[in-house]
Amino acid sequence: MSEIRRIGILTSGGDAPGMNAAIRAAVRTAVGQNISVLGIYRGYNGLINGDVAELDARSVDGIQVKGGTMLYTARCDEFRTEAGVKRAADTCRYLGIQGLIAIGGDGTFRGALDLSRAGVHTVGIPATIDNDIACTHYTIGFDTASNTAVEAIDKLRDTMQSHERCSIVEVMGNRSGNLTMYVGIAVGASSILIPERPIDVSEIYEKIRISRIRGRHHHIIVTAEGVGNAHELAEGIRQETGLDTRVTTLGHIQRGGSPTARDRVTATRMGCRAVDALLEGKSSRVICNRNGIITDMDIEEALALPKEIHEDMFQTASRITY
Ligand code: F6P
Repeated sequence: MSEIRRIGILTSGGDAPGMNAAIRAAVRTAVGQNISVLGIYRGYNGLINGDVAELDARSVDGIQVKGGTMLYTARCDEFRTEAGVKRAADTCRYLGIQGLIAIGGDGTFRGALDLSRAGVHTVGIPATIDNDIACTHYTIGFDTASNTAVEAIDKLRDTMQSHERCSIVEVMGNRSGNLTMYVGIAVGASSILIPERPIDVSEIYEKIRISRIRGRHHHIIVTAEGVGNAHELAEGIRQETGLDTRVTTLGHIQRGGSPTARDRVTATRMGCRAVDALLEGKSSRVICNRNGIITDMDIEEALALPKEIHEDMFQTASRITY
């Protein structure tokens, strides 16, 4: 039998659509087993400052349809210090929080690892639009963000086609190209630029020249944030090919909106599994989706895994983008 009578739950780092569904699932799973749940506001800041509220099954009614996070989120510098971690662990002891569910990305998991070393049982749930967490094939928010970007770029294509222009669209992703690659395939981009596979701009100019000869008069280039400067690329294309160019940065639009069914369902399954892991006495674990199976693994091992792009997807993209 588990000793745990009370758990805490927080969201940290960049928000992602589906975080609310994970909160709801964790609260309902715990409350259904007579475990009380404290919602912790503004990530690890709330844990340091005791900024919490009791959550019951009713308080999370219907939140699975909403984007963002009902618990608010933040990046917390104080928690990166030893003193900050100690303060957070002291708050957990004072409030009777025996297990903590931390929803977010790598930074969130590093915090959960530190807290587990300070004696609090922790479990992380991967939620980031970037899909850049090596231990899981899927992170909450990725599907909604992809669909948001695709919808926006499909609209851009209409106007680019009418004016026979070239659109350079910047997609989020932090240091990962996974979101950009996925979106680029879905919209049928003529070039997909990601940090993991840098290419020479002359290749892009050449692709445009060749496809113009083959009869294409508008182009969509999808680039991950941080891969060069989109405006410089646009100017280069204009000078080298004579095409009129426009730059669109999708920005934080990609982080909002009602989560897709896939994000809601994955978040719900992960939220339930996180509570189960704590009740099984586990600590310092991260919930993963591996080939559709929801499981968990050691946070430290998860953080040590090399981050790679999906090679088969990259190969597919390379074969059809021209
Ligand atoms: O990690 C999610 C993410 O949206 C990244 O894609 C992006 O680089 C970053 O967060 C933006 O962070 P902020 O909301 O602090 O501008």
